[in-house]
Amino acid sequence: MSDTLYDIVILGGGSGGYAAALRGAQLGMKVALIEADKVGGTCLHKGCIPTKALLHAAEVADVTRESGQFGVNATFQGIDMPKVNAYKDQIVSKLHKGLQGLVGHHNITYVTGWGTLVAPDTVDVGGTPYRGRNVVLASGSYARSLPGLEIGGRVITSDQALQMDWIPTSAIVLGGGVIGVEFASVWKSFGVDVTIIEALPHLAPNEDEALSKALERAFRKRRINFKLGARFAGVQRDDNGVVVTLEDGSTLAADLLLVAVGRGPATANLGYEAQGVPMERGFVLANERLHTGIANIYAVGDIVPGLQLAHRGFQQGIFVAEEIAGLNPATIVESGIPRVTYCDPELASVGLTEAQARAKFGDDEIKTSEVNLAANGKSGILGTAGFVKLVGRKDGPILGVHLIGARMGEQIGEAQLMVNWDAHAEDVAPLIHAHPTQNEAMGEAALALAGKPLHAHN
Ligand code: NAI
Repeated sequence: MSDTLYDIVILGGGSGGYAAALRGAQLGMKVALIEADKVGGTCLHKGCIPTKALLHAAEVADVTRESGQFGVNATFQGIDMPKVNAYKDQIVSKLHKGLQGLVGHHNITYVTGWGTLVAPDTVDVGGTPYRGRNVVLASGSYARSLPGLEIGGRVITSDQALQMDWIPTSAIVLGGGVIGVEFASVWKSFGVDVTIIEALPHLAPNEDEALSKALERAFRKRRINFKLGARFAGVQRDDNGVVVTLEDGSTLAADLLLVAVGRGPATANLGYEAQGVPMERGFVLANERLHTGIANIYAVGDIVPGLQLAHRGFQQGIFVAEEIAGLNPATIVESGIPRVTYCDPELASVGLTEAQARAKFGDDEIKTSEVNLAANGKSGILGTAGFVKLVGRKDGPILGVHLIGARMGEQIGEAQLMVNWDAHAEDVAPLIHAHPTQNEAMGEAALALAGKPLHAHN
């Protein structure tokens, strides 16, 4: 095996790495995919998929609690955590098997083991070198903590939170970003008394402010506690719980502390620096064609600065395989990557926030429309509140779409087409949106942005 010269040697079998492997193999290239753990990486095993299974179980719990309002008599009796985990693990396992089958079907050389970049064209796994005409670094990310805040016992990250077979009475969530609000949402539905601590002035602080504020209203209604502009100072822990101190001196006690302050690039001890791969704060620097500038080394996924999202990794993996195959693919437009946060209510967005659009083009150049789901028939049936907000350029394209409400993540498809294809509101307004769907609110928002709102009182 060590004598084989591969077209691509890929270090890491997560979303970015396996997408590069599959696309590379489809294009007739000889591919080696090296993975220390399981193919599928963070997204499949420790991220997107298992967390969404927990969120669905949480939704089922809430629907059961609220069933009476739909005339359905059911009694919520509690959460059986081992069974929830069995459901979650079965979803992951099925997808994992499918993925293993796909990798096998494509004749990819799959290597289980810790790979190290030992030369610009060689990854070593336990003494066996895998040499490639091209090398793709795709080693992913890990749940990071704060300096001095050690993970262990009752202080956990999402890795441990996904494996819990018990439900705490109370939990503190450090960080009101994506992981923080998703776990807060799950745990509240499971009956936990949750408090989020967020250093910035809003929950989901990267979103359009209107979305963050609406999420805060919804969480208040759900009695999810949060402290904004609050900085963590320290934690005391024992076998039964934690006491967290904030920088203002106040303290909070709970059964456990979930640290959700971001994910760091998994690039340590992989030989990257030694081979001259350009790095900054642990991230691998690559140009817009995802080339590192060193030999034929490319980088994809969470190790490349930018949004740490599986679908970005997939697209980067496909891009690199096509680039290596000489297909000259179009570069990825990072600003057009859709984002969905699957808490209840869901947040979904693509493109510029209103503030970013105003900063970029000037106040006079920007127009917005907002359609409340209160007027949407399907939203009423589902019993959800929320809105669709469009940000557009006057006499120009739609620049950003921002959604909040149950199942709004499913609406992001149309939104990302609008933003990525530079659609004008006037182009979208005449398109027919099926009735009754929540998607009609998108059509209505386009009508409003085009200056002809249908269901408005004016
Ligand atoms: P994040 O960057 O989204 O949020 C971390 C939050 O912690 C920030 O709001 C930050 O202000 C806050 N924070 C940092 N230090 C703090 C301190 N000392 N005191 C109080 N607050 C502090 O990172 P998160 O939530 O850990 O997620 C990691 C990555 O995983 C993200 O890039 C996210 O995109 C990805 N992810 C995506 C999901 C999705 O697409 N649905 C789901 C879960 C994670």
